[in-house]
Amino acid sequence: MSDDPVNFRIKVTKNGPYRVSGQPHTRLRRMVAGSDGNPVSYQDGAEMQMPAAAYLCRCGHSAKKPFCDGSHARVGFDGTETAGGEVYGDMARTFEGPELSFTDAKPLCARARFCDVKGTVWEQYAQTDDPTVAADFVQEIQMCPSGRLRAVRNADRAVLEPALAPGIGILKDEGKACSGPLQIEGGIVVESADGEVYEHRNRMTLCRCGASKNKPFCDGSHIGIDFQDGL
Ligand code: FES
Repeated sequence: MSDDPVNFRIKVTKNGPYRVSGQPHTRLRRMVAGSDGNPVSYQDGAEMQMPAAAYLCRCGHSAKKPFCDGSHARVGFDGTETAGGEVYGDMARTFEGPELSFTDAKPLCARARFCDVKGTVWEQYAQTDDPTVAADFVQEIQMCPSGRLRAVRNADRAVLEPALAPGIGILKDEGKACSGPLQIEGGIVVESADGEVYEHRNRMTLCRCGASKNKPFCDGSHIGIDFQDGL
């Protein structure tokens, strides 16, 4: 199957798992921690075999993670989608720097912390006339798995998005010693239980611990509950 994102779909099921179709590339992915515990890179594990219709746990209770084993029914999982239908542009605030700017949609934060590695992006943007700072700034923003942050080149207002093939990363946060969300890349379609399609975005994070208050998106709650997938 080609890597056209229309070939892949993630359907949120009512109070149940994600149904994934199209067999996107799916890998365990570790957020490699630097000396201060903030992540500095990703390291991929082996690709997982995905059935034609894969059901991925959304409640956090499956004994077969990342796959669903029906535990959502046993635990009475309330998977109500609370994120609403807001698009990125409605959520984002713009920070204008001298050469580069960025937009920040705070409600999408998954607390991945790539934005804090070499000084925070909220400090760096004002110094993007320095090429070294500018390069670090773009790299930190492009590593943000949730897509909360987007870098913009002032000269032509181009959004500097990384080129990502459609795929799913099953995240592990080494610095926090816990498991993280599903990292959805490349514009895979995500459809709500009601049949509404969420805004297509190049980078997204979907909650799989069951604790997010912004379902289906991750809001970083997996850290507070010390979510462990046992993988
Ligand atoms: S996986 Fe991040 S809040 Fe659930």
